[in-house]
Amino acid sequence: MGAEDRLPVNVAEYEARARARMDPASFDYYAGGAGDERTLSENVLAWRRWNLRPRVLAGVGAVSTATDVLGSRLAFPVIVAPTALHRLACDDGECATARACSAVGTVHVVSTVASRTLEDIAASADGPRWLQLYVPREREHTRALIRRAEACGVSAFVLTVDTPRLGRRERDLRNDFQLPAGVEPVHFPPLDPAAGDPALGHFARYANLNLDPALDWSIVAWLRAETRLPLVLKGVLTAEDARLAAEHGVDAVVVSNHGGRQLDGVVPTAVALPEVVAAASDRMAVLVDGGIRRGVDVLVALALGATAVMVGRPVLWGLAADGEQGARRVLELLRDEIEHAMALSGKRSIAEIGLDLVQPARV
Ligand SMILES: Cc1cc2nc3c(=O)[nH]c(=O)nc-3n(C[C@H](O)[C@H](O)[C@H](O)COP(=O)(O)O)c2cc1C
Repeated sequence: MGAEDRLPVNVAEYEARARARMDPASFDYYAGGAGDERTLSENVLAWRRWNLRPRVLAGVGAVSTATDVLGSRLAFPVIVAPTALHRLACDDGECATARACSAVGTVHVVSTVASRTLEDIAASADGPRWLQLYVPREREHTRALIRRAEACGVSAFVLTVDTPRLGRRERDLRNDFQLPAGVEPVHFPPLDPAAGDPALGHFARYANLNLDPALDWSIVAWLRAETRLPLVLKGVLTAEDARLAAEHGVDAVVVSNHGGRQLDGVVPTAVALPEVVAAASDRMAVLVDGGIRRGVDVLVALALGATAVMVGRPVLWGLAADGEQGARRVLELLRDEIEHAMALSGKRSIAEIGLDLVQPARV
């Protein structure tokens, strides 16, 4: 049996397979980060600067990885982060992702920059679904999208707050990344090819035209008036902003640096997580994403106070390698790694995971 015939056994192997199968510019769009990609690589390393303190003879027996987040039941504490344009990975795009999430029992956060419509996604699978929002200058657009999402059974909104404009992603500039024919952000207004800053690549120009750079905290009240569904802010990295989020009454924050794609040099999420958890002080749930590639990374995140994690690229690698089956298998691998690590560290349930499970790595 050749290496191509056997199923990948971890996320890194799915990445290698995705790289071999994808158009190189599309792979770079998925894989890349801003600037020197320091934050991109530090996100991964920062989880590994923690070691586990396993307990023995804990009578583990059966392990339950199930947990609840904002009223959504998760079979294991990994949510699929909003990522753009799944049709770059496979033709079914976000519909395949939705089926994979439904099969494993987790939440699918659909991006505003999805390449399949909310209605198609909702028709392809049951299961909890949240919608991520980028807010264009024209508020009517967001209002209409919220109404559509509610009609499609979306159960929470995730406002991304780290993107007043797109990060400077040098791989995309070098490749002059263009969307292939037939792959479009179906919820964004159509692009005027003549508009925007010609010094930017095609995709960044398009994205910037659709983002409101002047967004401030008043958007939270605006969204609260538009919908009764839970509201999550994604992209918080400091205690100061976590306190403001709590004061503005949001239901959860995601400690995130957009997978290293926005401002290079910002703090890795594993490092930012403890101060955000302390500032939230049980007033709101704290999620985290960025660089999570192993079940053990998830245990570290939960030990540091996260309610659950999100993964972005791992699911894209699964989709690109093998469509719905690949995305499903990536999620199953993470689930099995979490279950295994819990058993070997003496934890029967997610509630038993606390700060005593970790210590900083000293090498
Ligand atoms: C290709 C790609 C597209 C993304 N698109 C979005 C998006 O549309 N909206 C958003 O809020 N975050 C977006 N993100 C950021 C992810 O939600 C998430 O924060 C990040 O991928 C987590 O890091 P990880 O990829 O290391 O797991 C994107 C990330 C990637 C890799």
